[in-house]
Amino acid sequence: MQVVIIAVLSANGKIARFGSSKIDWNSKDDLEWFKRKTKEIGIVVCGRKTFETFNGPLKDRINIVMTHNPKKNGPENLIYTSDQPDQIIHFAEKLGYTRLAVIGGREVFTLFMNFVDELYLTYEPIFIDGMDLFDVSKDIKLNLVNIEMLGEDFVVHYRVQK
Ligand SMILES: NC(=O)c1ccc[n+]([C@@H]2O[C@H](COP(=O)([O-])OP(=O)(O)OC[C@H]3O[C@@H](n4cnc5c(N)ncnc54)[C@H](OP(=O)(O)O)[C@@H]3O)[C@@H](O)[C@H]2O)c1
Repeated sequence: MQVVIIAVLSANGKIARFGSSKIDWNSKDDLEWFKRKTKEIGIVVCGRKTFETFNGPLKDRINIVMTHNPKKNGPENLIYTSDQPDQIIHFAEKLGYTRLAVIGGREVFTLFMNFVDELYLTYEPIFIDGMDLFDVSKDIKLNLVNIEMLGEDFVVHYRVQK
């Protein structure tokens, strides 16, 4: 199982404005890229706060939402869970997926950092005052796999050195 972080960052490496939950500074190109990549992977995991910024579950993908207070599930592609990353990875494997897309926010990126194999980071041409991708408690070394131009953005694909 490959654990893949997908995130959009400002040019100064922030994932969200302080005090504002919804991302309103990323491009249409990034939204389309995110849709394409997460559909290709088929299953996403996010935190409850991030999920609340969506207009319901992402279509054509299994949505796993981490919360300490799991609610009743439904529609069928939406699963609230208090499971932790190792259990969620195991669950995705049991469903037959080979990759799991971790799509935020900061708390959930931080929880999955010990399990991550790859990252796709889209950089937007803007500086914002906001939160970092995740809490870094130790160095994490990366290898650059590819850089893809995306209109005014670019997507950096990294692999984590194990
Ligand atoms: N730029 C990007 O790519 C990107 C991507 C995603 C999100 N974001 C931004 O990130 C921000 C949200 O990030 P965030 O860090 O505040 O919140 P988050 O990670 O989206 O969600 C946090 C919530 O996840 C649940 N959770 C956290 N740890 C858990 C654990 N160990 N077990 C079970 N549930 C757990 C809790 O839900 P309960 O409170 O229900 O227990 C917690 O309140 C938003 O502004 C969003 O727009 C940016």
